[in-house]
Amino acid sequence: MTIQFNDETFHDDYTFRNSDWAIQRFPFPFHEDSYMYSVNLEPHLSLRPGSVYEKTFDVDEHYVAEMKDRARVLAEDPLRCQSLPHMTLAGWDLLELIMVSKAREYPDLFELHRDGDRWHWINKPLGIEQKFVFLDETTLPCGPLEYITRQAQGDYALLDQRDDNLWMDAGMVTTQADWSLDFDIGMNFFEWHAPVPMASELGVFQRALKFLLNLQQGAPVRRLNWTMTVNPLLDTSPENYHKWGVQKTALTPENVGSKQHLRVELQTLFRLPRSNALAFPIRCYLIRLEDLVTVPKWGRRLHRVLRDLPEELATYKGFIRNRPMIVEYLSQFDDGTPTSPGV
Ligand code: HEM
Repeated sequence: MTIQFNDETFHDDYTFRNSDWAIQRFPFPFHEDSYMYSVNLEPHLSLRPGSVYEKTFDVDEHYVAEMKDRARVLAEDPLRCQSLPHMTLAGWDLLELIMVSKAREYPDLFELHRDGDRWHWINKPLGIEQKFVFLDETTLPCGPLEYITRQAQGDYALLDQRDDNLWMDAGMVTTQADWSLDFDIGMNFFEWHAPVPMASELGVFQRALKFLLNLQQGAPVRRLNWTMTVNPLLDTSPENYHKWGVQKTALTPENVGSKQHLRVELQTLFRLPRSNALAFPIRCYLIRLEDLVTVPKWGRRLHRVLRDLPEELATYKGFIRNRPMIVEYLSQFDDGTPTSPGV
């Protein structure tokens, strides 16, 4: 196999590590020295061989470990995957999109053989082989959404479109930045975004929704979002806040470089063909500050962004308490050199 998969954990002993390759291709999200919410959507086109933007669904060295972590979280809390009854067709649409893309783009890892509606799926990294009848749920071990997203990195929301709005009516959510599918299920675009500060006043959500309602099949888009996470935790859910929230108090000037991570989400949006639903994959990438500052322009820029970030955003993103320590640590890597626009 072309990718060497890491044997690592995202909980307890936290053996998660990024290789030099993963560090170099990390999706650093800042194009300038400051940050504010915007409708930062662009076409999801293949970009730069080896980058996280090259393939429709990026597969990297963390794939096998992330899928194990998803299985662990689901075993503790099955409500992380939910699909309202009218969303089953969207689940099949998503299964098709992921299987077809992965088999085409990673032929050494995944194979899909189709004979009419009789499909044969082979996932080599996870050792899975499944023959099933497309659109016949009884031929899979679980629903199509759950089946395919147990084999695909990142969270997935499926949005039904009706009444000029999007409704979060299905999802698989185990690697989220402090929001809950069980709480948000059935909500619309404005309702689930209600906790976000400043963005409504800037008109971000009105403009984004208008754009998304017109999204066409075959023309997916993407955007980056980011936050800060102490320890390489994928599951920073409200359900488990009592386990991970307290870890933020363990940050010290000595361990901030190794424990504090920048968490970046590569979010993509696809119109689905049969259901007319939208698929919203949210792929999480983590990098510890120590590794991030090995790219000098990233260290400089992150220092300036975090130092000058409006208080409302630092509070919402959950690192207001540790911001002075993080900024102090990063300041050693900022020599004041002017940076040029672009990543
Ligand atoms: C945050 C879902 C699309 C902008 C969030 C949150 C959720 C969410 C669940 C967390 C809210 C909370 O605190 O409980 C979705 C879904 C989308 C979508 C399912 C697909 C339709 C977008 C788009 C934009 C956007 C297209 C803007 C262009 C934001 C922003 C935040 C946010 C700015 C705050 C993030 C932060 O500061 O960490 N979104 N979103 N979202 N969303 Fe979306």
